[in-house]
Amino acid sequence: MEQTLSIIKPDAVAKGVIGKIVDRFESNGLRIAAAKKLQLSQAEAESFYAVHSERPFFKDLVEFMISGPVFAMVLEGEGAMAKNRDLMGATNPQEAEPGTIRADFADSIDANAVHGSDSVENAKNEIKFFFCDREIV
Ligand code: CMP
Repeated sequence: MEQTLSIIKPDAVAKGVIGKIVDRFESNGLRIAAAKKLQLSQAEAESFYAVHSERPFFKDLVEFMISGPVFAMVLEGEGAMAKNRDLMGATNPQEAEPGTIRADFADSIDANAVHGSDSVENAKNEIKFFFCDREIV
C-alpha cells in the first residue's frame, strides 16, 4: 500500500488543531501508519528541506520549522501521496480550495499548516528521515 509523509507544522500544532487535521486524513481513507511529535533542530530542518537550500525563502522556512514542535506522520492508503496533496490544498493558503486543510487552518505561505511529500519517491526518503521501520505499523 502506498505511503507518504505528512508534517503538521508549528503553526497548526500551536493552534491545537492536530486532531482536526488527523481527522481529515482518517475520514478520507488515509490510515495513520506512524506518528510522532518532535522538535526539529536547525541542522535537521536544513537537511530535510535541502532541496530548497538555494531558494530565497530557505532561511525563513527553516526558522519557521524550528519555531516549535511538529507532528510527523506516515499516511497509508491507495494513492496516498496524491490524496494527501489534494486534502492539503495549494502551498499558498490564499490559493487553496475551500475545504482543504490549508484553506481552513493556514495563515501564510510559510505558516501553511502542513507539509506533504510531492512524489512517491521523495515520500520514501522523507519517511526514512523521521521514522525507523519498527515505528511504521
Ligand atoms: P512545504 O510543502 O513544506 O515545502 C516547502 C515550503 O516552503 C512550503 O511548504 C512553504 O511553506 C515554504 N515556502 C515559502 N515560500 C515559498 C514559495 N515561494 N514557494 C514554495 N514554497 C514556499
